[in-house]
Amino acid sequence: MHVPILVAPILELLAISAGQCVVDGTGGYGGHSAAMLAQLGDQGCLYVADRDPMAVDCLKTRFSQDARVSVFQETYAGFLENVKTPPENDKNVVYPKSVDRLLVDLGMSSMQLDDPIRGFGYLHDGPLDMRMNPSDEVSAADVLNTYSAQDLSDIFFRYGELHQNKILVQNILSFRRNCQISDTEQLRDLIKASYHFGKRPIMMRHFAQVFQALRIYVNREFEELETLIALLDSVMAEEGRVAFLTFHSQEDRLVKHGMRALPGWKMMTKHVVLADQDEVRENSRAKSAKLRVYSRKNS
Ligand SMILES: C[S@@+](CC[C@H](N)C(=O)[O-])C[C@H]1O[C@@H](n2cnc3c(N)ncnc32)[C@H](O)[C@@H]1O
Repeated sequence: MHVPILVAPILELLAISAGQCVVDGTGGYGGHSAAMLAQLGDQGCLYVADRDPMAVDCLKTRFSQDARVSVFQETYAGFLENVKTPPENDKNVVYPKSVDRLLVDLGMSSMQLDDPIRGFGYLHDGPLDMRMNPSDEVSAADVLNTYSAQDLSDIFFRYGELHQNKILVQNILSFRRNCQISDTEQLRDLIKASYHFGKRPIMMRHFAQVFQALRIYVNREFEELETLIALLDSVMAEEGRVAFLTFHSQEDRLVKHGMRALPGWKMMTKHVVLADQDEVRENSRAKSAKLRVYSRKNS
């Protein structure tokens, strides 16, 4: 099961009231959605988006009996673009006119991470896929097997903060001259051959940085977030609020700087909200979670 993180502070800061229109942009397995639904009353509505068709199946099953919920297989940025400019060709799909409350809980769900077939986890053996939506064009294996040395280096630098990546890139290029890079084990071996790790935790950190870089690139995660921030002024209601749950420093920085550049919004707490020790003890994913909630300045 994916355990939702920081549920209590999210509910407190979003302060959802009955009848509002709420969007969960990263539905996952619906934990946050269910908690928000409980605040919505009979007349409220919850729009839940996820780009992953497996998560969408699960969300549709979970909320099939609740007429207040609509589930969309879309990226959250795509969903909000459709709120701003509703598509003309599909009259059956109705988007809200504006959004009172928006949540994005970024990154992967436990189910994505723990399923070896998806290729997200460096601890599992499986194909190097990493697409949250398997219909997207480019997988992690495509990137490793076809991108230039410069592009690979830029991806590891920008999305994994892996500054020393020259030998890793050279090793990838020489490996793929003879053989396709297709699974997580091959990538782990290439990383191991490219660095002198004194200690196991340092090796694990390098695995994490390389896998994170590929995942962020393959799923265009930063572009999604930038698009969402750019759309807030036009899609959120007058007294709208938006909550971002991030899991690494680059994501958090992107939110912090992106929101600072929006003059109409203010952060609702002085500092980011973190999980307490009890929550971290019960759910290790909560350790790196940071919550920022923003409201319109005039509300
Ligand atoms: C951390 S999980 C969310 C878990 C959820 N809050 C819950 O309580 O079950 C993140 C989910 O967001 C989805 N996701 C990630 N980026 C997305 C995007 N740009 N648009 C839509 N869904 C996205 C992933 O497929 C994954 O299912």
